[in-house]
Amino acid sequence: MLETLLIIEDEKLLGSELSRHYRQSGWDVLVATNLTEAKEILLKNKVEPLLIISDMNLPDGNALDFMEQIKSCISNANAGVKANYATITEWLFLTAFGSVPDSVRALRLGAYDFLEKPCDLEHLDLLVASAARSAAIQRRVIDQTKQGHRRYTPEAYVGHSTQAQGIRQLLARLTQVPFSALVIGGESGTGKGLTARILHYGGHRAQQPMIEVNCAALPRELLESELFGHEPGAFTGASSRHRGLLEQADGGTLFMDEIGEMPLDLQTKLLKAIEDHKVRRLGGEKEISVDVQIVAASNRDLEKMVSEGGFRADLYHRLSVFKVNLPPLRDAVEDLDELVPLFVAEYNAKAGRQVKEIPTDVWTKLKAHYWPGNVRELRNVIERCVLLSEGPLFPVQWLQLPGQDERPSQATENEGSVKGEISAQGIFLPLDGSMALDDMDKFIIKTALDRAENNLTAAARDLGATRETLRYRVRKYNLKIDD
Ligand SMILES: Nc1ncnc2c1ncn2[C@@H]1O[C@H](COP(=O)(O)OP(=O)(O)OP(=O)(O)O)[C@@H](O)[C@H]1O
Ligand SMILES: [Mg+2]
Repeated sequence: MLETLLIIEDEKLLGSELSRHYRQSGWDVLVATNLTEAKEILLKNKVEPLLIISDMNLPDGNALDFMEQIKSCISNANAGVKANYATITEWLFLTAFGSVPDSVRALRLGAYDFLEKPCDLEHLDLLVASAARSAAIQRRVIDQTKQGHRRYTPEAYVGHSTQAQGIRQLLARLTQVPFSALVIGGESGTGKGLTARILHYGGHRAQQPMIEVNCAALPRELLESELFGHEPGAFTGASSRHRGLLEQADGGTLFMDEIGEMPLDLQTKLLKAIEDHKVRRLGGEKEISVDVQIVAASNRDLEKMVSEGGFRADLYHRLSVFKVNLPPLRDAVEDLDELVPLFVAEYNAKAGRQVKEIPTDVWTKLKAHYWPGNVRELRNVIERCVLLSEGPLFPVQWLQLPGQDERPSQATENEGSVKGEISAQGIFLPLDGSMALDDMDKFIIKTALDRAENNLTAAARDLGATRETLRYRVRKYNLKIDD
């Protein structure tokens, strides 16, 4: 779909030159030569341009006054329904050379930027591109907000196990209270993202944006400028102004996924922003007030990280006033009874399949599996089976759960965080972040010891290690042997 650009310019030649230029670069361009025409386009014809490029002084008035008037008309017309496409249009102003006061006022009133005449088309192109990107992102947030409302109530967290019921009750309570920060814990794939969405879209801030950031996905510098924003020239490569995610989430929720990966110095800065309700863009002078609810998630044990110095205690205490800890699927296998039909129905609909019958041996296998990747892993397995199905029968041959090819796998006995799986063929270790390297090491050693009936020498031989190395690790992991 073409996006609309409105040009307000009384110099006919400039207006038509810009119009031709932007039509060629794929915009649907409208031109108004005075404010009356522009008003008709915006208010009467209800056109919702993504971007407006406007001259500052038009024959029938000043364009800044006009922008103020339009913005207030639109927000009054939408009173109660805050987020709306019409409220999101970026404005770029073309100002006469040397008219600094106008430019300052333009920015203060919320214009995206301004450019002095005569315009340098290359520079204008850059501004147009970044203003359009900014408006498009804000509009996408509105779309997500609208969809989010329908889908994310506490009932979206499915399952009839005691754990799942407890989580739903907790979510129902939490969506009623205006909390400022909360931590979601749980292994990978247990539904932390889902829970964060329920908390936002089921709560008081549902009409406002929910902004997501994955702290593990960005290098430190980028994470900082994403969170706090920057002014032009704040660092090499910062060519334009960028509103940080904390600012973008104003009034709504910032979902900080994998918060355990955040560098310590940024944690300090984040804590300050949360406590002061203010952010300062990199390279910026003024502090900007923000009202943001923080939902942080981690699949790491933050409390342990605090005790080992890998996470700031003060930030942890600030965030963890409320905690939601999601159970691993293996501890709530009863939930498969609802989750499996749910995902089957979803992929039936998506892929036009008709899987209806789930044979007993499928259920047996699903319930015996250890699910190191939790509900996400389950979803992927169901997707594969439904896509490869031919008819109404759930195809057991596509389950392909590790270690179950010949005989049912034996999940390791409940031993803290040990999550691997043993089968006739060998050991299965999940490489999806749900099992730490140390736990894998412990699991391998424990399995070798079990197989060698606790004979240290035999286990060391099987592992290609010396007795001393093995003895050291046995002590390190607190394993029992008859030595
Ligand atoms: N109890 C549940 N009911 C319904 N769907 C669920 C449930 N738990 C998880 N899911 C679904 O499983 C998938 C994985 O969940 P999600 O992405 O929220 O996990 P996560 O904990 O954020 O994982 P990661 O740590 O890997 O980011 C999603 O499609 C989610 O909707
Ligand atoms: Mg997630």
